[in-house]
Amino acid sequence: MNKRNILTQKLAAAKLGGGQHRIDAQHNKKKLTARERLDLLLDRNSFEEIGALVKHRSTDFGMEKMHYPGDGVVTGYGTIHGRLVYVFSQDFTVFGGSLSETHAEKICKIMDMAMRNGAPVIGLNDSGGARIQEGVVSLGGYADIFYRNTLASGVIPQLSAIMGPCAGGAVYSPAITDFILMVEDTSYMFVTGPNVVKTVTNEEVSSEDLGGASVHSEKSGVAHLTSANDLEAIEDIKKLLSYMPQNCEEKAPRIAYELGDEIRHELEKIVPDSANQPYDMRDVIQGIIDRESFFEIHKNFAPNIVVGFARLAGRSIGIIANQPAYLAGVLDVQSSQKGARFVRFCDCFNIPLLVLEDVPGFLPGTDQEWNAIITNGAKLLYAFSEATVPRITVITRKAYGGAYDVMNSKHIGADLNFAWPSAEIAVMGAKGAAEIIFKGEISAAADPAAALLEKEKEYAEIFANPYRAAERGFVDEVIVPEETRVKLIKAYAMLENKVSTLPKKKHGNIPL
Ligand code: HXC
Repeated sequence: MNKRNILTQKLAAAKLGGGQHRIDAQHNKKKLTARERLDLLLDRNSFEEIGALVKHRSTDFGMEKMHYPGDGVVTGYGTIHGRLVYVFSQDFTVFGGSLSETHAEKICKIMDMAMRNGAPVIGLNDSGGARIQEGVVSLGGYADIFYRNTLASGVIPQLSAIMGPCAGGAVYSPAITDFILMVEDTSYMFVTGPNVVKTVTNEEVSSEDLGGASVHSEKSGVAHLTSANDLEAIEDIKKLLSYMPQNCEEKAPRIAYELGDEIRHELEKIVPDSANQPYDMRDVIQGIIDRESFFEIHKNFAPNIVVGFARLAGRSIGIIANQPAYLAGVLDVQSSQKGARFVRFCDCFNIPLLVLEDVPGFLPGTDQEWNAIITNGAKLLYAFSEATVPRITVITRKAYGGAYDVMNSKHIGADLNFAWPSAEIAVMGAKGAAEIIFKGEISAAADPAAALLEKEKEYAEIFANPYRAAERGFVDEVIVPEETRVKLIKAYAMLENKVSTLPKKKHGNIPL
């Protein structure tokens, strides 16, 4: 056989993928192979593989006899909707997708290329962690990846899909990337698995309960999106990417849009007359954005704030909205973290921000104080203050207390603040305010309850409206709800070429 034929055979073997370790069909019925995943992710015939013939260098434990070309990870580049991306897809059928020195080198190589050429990196993770037979060189390989993840942060978008096990220190690469997607029932992430947990803390817990998709999407917030199976996860990756630019020097792609009648009458009746009645802020979002364009992130985590991408007249925007339908939209530790992380992603990648505000303040209580609502609330405040992208706020109802300042007020650099006539901009609600400032008068009154009501009314008349703030210019315009979309389309067009720079510094010190 001549040299060329040997090479062709080797390549064919590599591209078949997989070693001798076959996956249990029943257990993994929702799981696709590493190559099937890439096939579905990338545009047809766009994938170009790099490093298909790479072999591990390990010689301990009889490893010198076990070689699978590619060494458990398929790496390369291709396109999604015509746009360049770099990809790696771990192959669980080769030593459990475990990460060897060479496996890590392959991932690092495409990360370096992605940085040089300014395109996103997508990792499809399915791995038993560090290759146990290799010891420290595989740990070094992980660290090489973490280092690159950090350097690439804010330069190119990095997306991690978890489609199988992800345990030990391996979780820290996805954790540094911008978004984590998990597949329900077949993926899990934890730093220490159930066996170690049992030994150390005596807790009995399953992999699913410790680090499954629902745990990380609802409790820890580690996962931004979950999907029923691999296919759905892949569709979500494509959709997510469509809202982003290729790198921090570019703007997100804009979809062609022809302006028509942009008045949305459905916005008129969403906010209830009573200030204490809940409503779903998602209805307001839908009433403002291009139809069917909302892509919610972190849906099941901290539901008192809603974040996600949308389009407005074809422009990609990031929305951060208080949710009065859950805990009255109060800001707490988790919602502050969720909002701050999203604001920073959008600012990294030039995606304008829209804030929809109806917030009664920060959540009181020992639980919140002991879990550092001070530090966490400050994250959101810092993230908004530092953002230089176009930033607009629409106050739909309450903007009380410190939360008024934090939620993208003009004072911290927002470009425009609009308010609906239903807006109430005050230090606190009228009842609480009256109880404090008229305490003496009320208790001395013949009928304290009636006196409280009267004082509450007096306070509400002065502050439970947007006009005091508008007189000062803290609100730029009071607008009727049905015109919100029109106003925002014009405003973002006006802000298209905004230039805003931060003071020269190495980097700030966000209260982490
Ligand atoms: C080498 C591994 C491996 C690993 C799995 N395999 N993990 N080989 N290194 N880390 C191999 C198995 O030996 C097996 O080979 C095949 O992959 C499939 O594994 P199974 O155990 O049969 O599969 P399953 O029952 O589905 O269980 C999957 C698993 C389990 C839960 C991932 O394999 C497991 O617990 N692996 C070890 C996980 C781990 O502790 N990793 C180190 C984490 S610490 P055969 O030949 O039998 O088919 C870490 C440090 C990183 O990663 C630090 C960075 C800072």
